[in-house]
Amino acid sequence: MAASIPPSWTTGTVPNSFAALPTGALGTLGGQLMRLLNRAQQHEVARLLGPVPGADVLEVGHGPGVLLGLLARTAGHVTGVDPSEEMRRLAIRAHARAIAAGRLDVRAGDAGATGLPDAAVDLVVAVNNVAIWPDLDAGVAELRRVLRPGGRLVLSWHGGERPARMARGLVLPEERLRRIDDALGVRFPEVRRTLTRRCTVFEARCAP
Ligand SMILES: C[S@@+](CC[C@H](N)C(=O)[O-])C[C@H]1O[C@@H](n2cnc3c(N)ncnc32)[C@H](O)[C@@H]1O
Repeated sequence: MAASIPPSWTTGTVPNSFAALPTGALGTLGGQLMRLLNRAQQHEVARLLGPVPGADVLEVGHGPGVLLGLLARTAGHVTGVDPSEEMRRLAIRAHARAIAAGRLDVRAGDAGATGLPDAAVDLVVAVNNVAIWPDLDAGVAELRRVLRPGGRLVLSWHGGERPARMARGLVLPEERLRRIDDALGVRFPEVRRTLTRRCTVFEARCAP
């Protein structure tokens, strides 16, 4: 039986399964499409993050895994968690060498339940999934839990200075963006919002 998709905190309705839980052959096809359509965003987020030499990194909701590969170039170790088996399979196939070398690890999980121990990583990043989480506060709490002192949480969503035409319908209204600022502000002393060309990015830092 297919897993049921919970309503998202942004709309209170069940998000499109293509984005929320890509499943089966169609899900795999969707993931391959995502790899192309969202590629520029992954590079923008990677540039914003900068090199992360030696860092332990968690990417939540990695989809086909483009950003996982960019992170694995400089990080000490990268863990990817995604609730979709098909997305995990695509990411594993794309990064077999990094996995074999022990630099990358892909597991089942989501923003509310990463499966990582407390204070396990230096950086958590999530691209194009914060708006489909069922519970924003629970997700932020979980991602804060796995960060070490001085650690960084980066959440990116469709938007930015010039959203791609296909993504314009996904851009969140200011009131929802402010809700993300507020949820982060409850748990982090430092929060800021940045626009790249195609992404609206929230960065939060733990106290040292
Ligand atoms: C639209 S895709 C984005 C994938 C990739 N990050 C990108 O930007 O191309 C959303 C991804 O988030 C995953 N996802 C769904 N619900 C999630 C949740 N609650 N927490 C984390 N990831 C989730 C989906 O399985 C899917 O891989």
